[in-house]
Amino acid sequence: MKIFVYNYREFDEAEYFRKFSKEYHVELGICRDDPTLENAHLAEGYEYISIITTKIDRDLMKKYHEMGVKMISTRTVGYDHVDIDAAREFGIHVSNVSYSPECVADYTMMLILMSIRKMKRIMQRAEINDFSLPGIQGKELPNFTVGVLGTGRIGRAVIRDLSGFGCEIYAYDKYEDETVKKHAQYADLDTIYRECDLITLHMPLFEDNYHLISREAISRMKDGVIIINTARGGLIDTKALIDGIETGRIGAAALDVIEDEFGMYYYDRKADVLSKRDLYILRGFPNVIVTPHMAFYTDQAVSDMVKHSIESCLLRDEGKKDPWAVV
Ligand code: COI
Repeated sequence: MKIFVYNYREFDEAEYFRKFSKEYHVELGICRDDPTLENAHLAEGYEYISIITTKIDRDLMKKYHEMGVKMISTRTVGYDHVDIDAAREFGIHVSNVSYSPECVADYTMMLILMSIRKMKRIMQRAEINDFSLPGIQGKELPNFTVGVLGTGRIGRAVIRDLSGFGCEIYAYDKYEDETVKKHAQYADLDTIYRECDLITLHMPLFEDNYHLISREAISRMKDGVIIINTARGGLIDTKALIDGIETGRIGAAALDVIEDEFGMYYYDRKADVLSKRDLYILRGFPNVIVTPHMAFYTDQAVSDMVKHSIESCLLRDEGKKDPWAVV
């Protein structure tokens, strides 16, 4: 069985690709670049393709269909970068992967603590020997009411972690999970916006929750609310967020993801003039932390991403039930 791997990373993924392809007797074709119409021919003769967060639009899906590709496995949890309607139209299966939720949960906790303790300001000042106190007084998590939007594996891990800090926790999801109720109370968005001092996002991005954190939603939140996003940039209306920060309605934000990050993150773009004004504005605020979609990035997660992508293709090839099947 053969899989063609796009965005193959030598420095971190290669050891796992070598290990698991050997273990599962899979032959790999590799390309270090994003999949594009121009390099699609490299996957000629392969029925299975493994990708990361690069866009697979309708044209590329059509191209792969014409080349006889049966399935695209994305080595990511989110699959909003893949045109799922086009996959259905062309009869190409799509799967995602799962990985240890602890990577994103740990990172979320770090961003929460950094935000409430004003760590960006503290670190900036310490670098220039400014050891003064005004403007950096923090808050304590046990005094917080936290809203967790999305109670999938990551949201649940965050709730479990938060429970150790003694804060009050509200949770929101379309589907309630019994284990969550041990530590948190499910509530509607209205209640969460009204009651919570900090809101953290852990939902996949779909059409129906695009810009969930809208201008109107922000207007219903508590004054000085802190917003944490380690999920998808499209969940927040960035312009409304910027306005909220400027007016002080939003007290702080920590964003591992932003809208329009495709083609930017995971590349060295320091010599380029980027047309990403919102990113520059957000980064300029002393109370906003922006990181380049790194919450997932641990040894365990990368190993799981590679392993599950290979396993998913194998299961499909063997006609067995694939727990990661999306289409
Ligand atoms: C995902 O797995 O969905 C992520 O967000 C991480 C990915 C961008 C590498």
